[in-house]
Amino acid sequence: MAEVKFDDRVAVVTGAGGGLGKAYAMLLASRGAKVVVNDLGGSFDGVGADTRAAQLVVDEIKAAGGEATPNYDSVSDWESAQAIIQTAIDAYGRIDILINNAGILRDKSLLKMTIEDYKLVMAVHMDGTFYCTKAALPHMREAAYGRIVSTASGTGVYGNFGQANYGAAKMGIVGFTNCVKQEGAKYNILANVIVPQAGTRMTATVLPPNIIDKLKPEYVAPMVCWLASDHCDVSGMYFMAGAGYFSRSAIVEGPGVFLDPDKEITIEDVEANIEKIKSLEGGRGYGSVTEQTGYVLSNLKLD
Ligand code: NAI
Repeated sequence: MAEVKFDDRVAVVTGAGGGLGKAYAMLLASRGAKVVVNDLGGSFDGVGADTRAAQLVVDEIKAAGGEATPNYDSVSDWESAQAIIQTAIDAYGRIDILINNAGILRDKSLLKMTIEDYKLVMAVHMDGTFYCTKAALPHMREAAYGRIVSTASGTGVYGNFGQANYGAAKMGIVGFTNCVKQEGAKYNILANVIVPQAGTRMTATVLPPNIIDKLKPEYVAPMVCWLASDHCDVSGMYFMAGAGYFSRSAIVEGPGVFLDPDKEITIEDVEANIEKIKSLEGGRGYGSVTEQTGYVLSNLKLD
C-alpha cells in the first residue's frame, strides 16, 4: 500500500491552535503539506482572541522541519473567512485541502439558551464552514482538485441534552456537505465530514480526566488526513472516529409503503401502516434527492 503523502499540497486547517485541529495540522505537515494554521485563539465558549494559539502550532511544525503559516482571523464572517483562504494563496499560491474544524460551545437547555448563544454557535460552526468553503471553492475549481473535510458531532447525529444550538449547526454541516458533494464532483472536489470524539478542552468540561487521556486527538487525525488526501475516493460521507474506533454513519430511508394516490389517503390509513412506515428494514441511502424522488415517483401511474 502506497504511503499517503502531501508533498506540494497546501492545507488550511481552521481552529488549529489546539485540540483536534492541531493534531490534523501536525500530521499533514509531517507528511509534507504546507499548512495554514488558523485560530482565533478565544475561549472554548467563544470569548476573546489571542494570536499565540496559531503561532505556537506554527512554531512546533517548523521546529519539526515542516512548513506552516499562521492566520488569526475568525471563520465566522465572510470577509475574515476570505482572508483565511487568501493567506494560503498569498503564502503558497494554492489551496488543495480545507479542514473546517473551528468550533465553540454554548451549552444550555433550550429553555435557558439565549438568542446570542444560538447565533454565536451557528456563526462559528455553520456560517464558518459555509464561508471558508465558499472562499476556497473557486481556487479548487481552477486547479480541478480539492479535498474538504468538515466537522459534525454525535450531538447532531444522535442528540444531546443542552446542545440544541450546536446539534442544529453540526447537522447543518452534514446537509451542506451533501450539496457540496454534488457541486464539486465535476471538478474533482470531494467533500466529507468527520464526527470526532476526543479529549480536548471542549470535552474536558464533561468527561473525567482518565477518559480524556485515552481519547487522544491523534487517534482521529489519520481518518481526517485520509479524507484530505489524494487516496480518498469518497464524497458526501460522514465518518465517526475516536479512541481507535472508526466507522461510517449514514442517513438511511426505509422502503416505506405506497398507498394509492388515486384514492383518498386518510390519517387512519397512515396509522394502519405506521409500523411499515417506521421500519428501516431493507433501508438504503440515496446519492441525491433526485435519486430519492425517482423512488417516490416510481409508484405513480403516469399517462
Ligand atoms: P478546541 O476548543 O480544542 O478547538 C477548537 C478551536 O477552534 C480552538 O482552538 C478555538 O480557538 C478555535 N476557534 C473557535 N472559534 C473560532 C473562530 N471563530 N475562528 C477560528 N478559530 C476558532 O475543541 P476540539 O474538541 O478540538 O474541537 C474541534 C472541532 O471538533 C469543533 O468543531 C468541535 O465542535 C468538533 N467536535 C469535537 C468533539 C470532541 O470530542 N472533542 C466531538 C464532536 C465534535
